[in-house]
Amino acid sequence: MALYSEKVMDHFRNPRNVGVIEDANGIGEVGNAKCGDIMKMYLKIEDDIIKDVKFETFGCGSAIASSSMATELIKGKPVSEAMKLTNKAVTEALDGLPAYKLHCSVLAEEAIQSALDDYYKRKGIESRE
Ligand code: FES
Repeated sequence: MALYSEKVMDHFRNPRNVGVIEDANGIGEVGNAKCGDIMKMYLKIEDDIIKDVKFETFGCGSAIASSSMATELIKGKPVSEAMKLTNKAVTEALDGLPAYKLHCSVLAEEAIQSALDDYYKRKGIESRE
């Protein structure tokens, strides 16, 4: 069996939503101290809908595939849905990741949560709860 699913390879080779949103109103950056990978997520939110999302990932193939899939999962969705995105949902959408690569999908979840935190902070809301 191949180590990586076809979906992982597809999103790694042909990542969706790579880049920067100049007028983003939510930006999050997270890193993993162990592997040194960094992920930056840009959100453009209007009327509580994720109108656009882009990412820059300096990391492994699984991190790139996870970021790409995560952006696809939240694009066009309400903020309330994006807040519920888990690394499990990202991994499932990718048809799985090897166990030792699961932290790469966690990075994608954290990057989106961090960008949403920033969005709320800019609106003057400290907590999303
Ligand atoms: Fe660290 Fe993939 S090896 S994010």
